[in-house]
Amino acid sequence: MKSLAVISQKGGSGKSTTAQGLAVEAMRTGLKVALIDLDQQASTGKWSDRREESDRLAVVCSPAARLPKVLNQAKTEGVDFVVIDTPPHAGQIAIEAAKLADRILIPIEPHISSLETLTTVSDILNLAGKPPAEVLINDAPVQGRRHEDAREWLIEQGFKVAPVVLFHRAAHSDAGDLGKTAGELDPLGKAAVEMKQLYIYIYRLL
Ligand SMILES: Nc1ncnc2c1ncn2[C@@H]1O[C@H](COP(=O)(O)OP(=O)(O)O)[C@@H](O)[C@H]1O
Ligand SMILES: [Mg+2]
Repeated sequence: MKSLAVISQKGGSGKSTTAQGLAVEAMRTGLKVALIDLDQQASTGKWSDRREESDRLAVVCSPAARLPKVLNQAKTEGVDFVVIDTPPHAGQIAIEAAKLADRILIPIEPHISSLETLTTVSDILNLAGKPPAEVLINDAPVQGRRHEDAREWLIEQGFKVAPVVLFHRAAHSDAGDLGKTAGELDPLGKAAVEMKQLYIYIYRLL
């Protein structure tokens, strides 16, 4: 069983969107997938309530203290891929998730106010024993080169950066409202293509 935790300090940076998108991409390749929501707000849990009942995606809302147990259960049940969605300003919760996951993805908007929060994420990763991690530039403006500037800055600061950028695409929020992902709402759209590329990239690393 492979596992990925999606963490970042800032709310609204795209943790849930990315976790949902990657889980659904994995499911569509035929993997048995569990999506674990550690956020008390349960936005991924509520998103799954909006999905059709026949869905093959297992979404579990859990307090972080039960994460080891939930992961064990997933393994026993033959789950191939677990994605862990975490709350913002998570501190200990993010540390727990980062300790237990094989790999960490850190979605961040390419703005200084978001990028500044990465020092705290670095502290979290250090406390979790430095699991393999990379930053995902999300919600980047389609116009301009803000994503490139952010990438250069991140690399200078010593962060690993995913080669795939998720640009600002309305399909992500439109799909979320319906309990879907962009890939399900508009499979050939740009948002869908970017998420699929991200999935292919990240799954290969696991
Ligand atoms: N790349 C994107 N393009 C457009 N909207 C996005 C993108 N990523 C996230 N969003 C939207 O931004 C809002 C916050 O995203 P969310 O994934 O819930 O963030 P978090 O879980 O980090 O708080 C949601 O409405 C989501 O649909
Ligand atoms: Mg969220």
